[in-house]
Amino acid sequence: MIETKELKNRRKRLMDMIGSDSIAILPTSSVVVRNRDVEFPFRPDSDFFYLTGYPEPEAVLVLIPDREEGECILFCRESDEKLETWHGRRSGLDGAVNIYAADDAFPIEDMDDILPGLIEGHDRIFYNMGSDQNFDQRVLGWVNQIRGKVRAGIIAPDEFISLNHFLHEMRLYKSRYEIKLMRQAAKISAKAHRRAMQNCQPGMYEYQLEGELISEFIKNGARYTAYPPIVGSGPNACILHYTNNSDEIADGDLLLIDSGAEYQCYASDITRTFPVNGKFSKAQREIYNLVLSAQTAALNEIKPGNHWNDPHDAAVRVLTEGMVELGILKGNPEDLIKNKDYAKYYMHRTGHWLGMDVHDVGDYKLDGEWRMLEAGMVMTVEPGLYLSANSEGLSEQWRNIGVRIEDDVLVTKDGYDILSKDAPKTIDEIEELMANAA
Ligand code: GLY
Ligand code: MN
Ligand code: MN
Repeated sequence: MIETKELKNRRKRLMDMIGSDSIAILPTSSVVVRNRDVEFPFRPDSDFFYLTGYPEPEAVLVLIPDREEGECILFCRESDEKLETWHGRRSGLDGAVNIYAADDAFPIEDMDDILPGLIEGHDRIFYNMGSDQNFDQRVLGWVNQIRGKVRAGIIAPDEFISLNHFLHEMRLYKSRYEIKLMRQAAKISAKAHRRAMQNCQPGMYEYQLEGELISEFIKNGARYTAYPPIVGSGPNACILHYTNNSDEIADGDLLLIDSGAEYQCYASDITRTFPVNGKFSKAQREIYNLVLSAQTAALNEIKPGNHWNDPHDAAVRVLTEGMVELGILKGNPEDLIKNKDYAKYYMHRTGHWLGMDVHDVGDYKLDGEWRMLEAGMVMTVEPGLYLSANSEGLSEQWRNIGVRIEDDVLVTKDGYDILSKDAPKTIDEIEELMANAA
């Protein structure tokens, strides 16, 4: 569990930014029903969890800078022996204070009675409208209740401000503790990718390899995936968000696996592509090595001071020039880049921020310009080529080759560190691992 010192520090930094005269209200996620009487596993809201470390549902964090009786208040579930016998342990109000370092804790059932009194006297409410309509209505109800009392000299807030700007800027720069968890998430996922490569056989079904991945995650303490695994063979490797994972894996095809574990609420996001029978064909080899060169070129652009888009530009250049050399695209690479002709086969961007959310928070542009990379940011680098059989004019030899290579990368003060480096990546590494598994 996170040290309370780090939690308190995060709250303090946020409160310094929002200033006194303000109150911040952050509910955790709602429990979602999967089918009658059965709920989806609960996952706390990332912003809420970042500030509280509190893993249980039905909780709301309230931050009130400069409140003398305590700045950090948690509304949460009380201990309840009977309910805990049925549904599991609760940390209760004492736990909220003693484990999660809240200054004060109140029962969640009492929030309607207590929270309006806490909001009173503040000019601004920092609250993210729009993600939970029911909660939005409650917040508006509390404010209207206070506005009804302004003639009695009570100050009612007249400004709603999103917390995103301040909080997401904080979340973009990972602490040592966060990097440790992200390294572990990537390590577990890399192990799972190795296991999938070792277990893959023509004639298996895609979901059977999904089973190998998930088993490895859980065995290593990562109960949940950061996103649904993509296990796509042959033509399915060319469907970017393929998650059916239902087809038989055919000899001679490539298999694309995009799968990452979530470890203690931190995501990993790794893609590897390998030949089902353990040996790349000549055409598969050409495309694979081209994507790998594009990834290397992108990685070489990762250092403090370079811009967010530099790795993407480098990958696009290598992919476009390579496709011209292989005869997949015709024309001058400069023009093909300018006109975005490469996007017929490379239609997504080269990466995204990674953190508690797989597509993590943080602005990519500041004042209209791509932002600079800085030490402590974590991003993916994931170029690909998707040569679908439906592509007009594509020669037979390239059809149904879909390749993506995706790693999780920490920006360091001198360059970068690949968190997912344990997943085999070169053709030799992959073929050797698969040959030795047979
Ligand atoms: N797995 C989601 C992504 O690569 O962005
Ligand atoms: Mn990704
Ligand atoms: Mn991915």
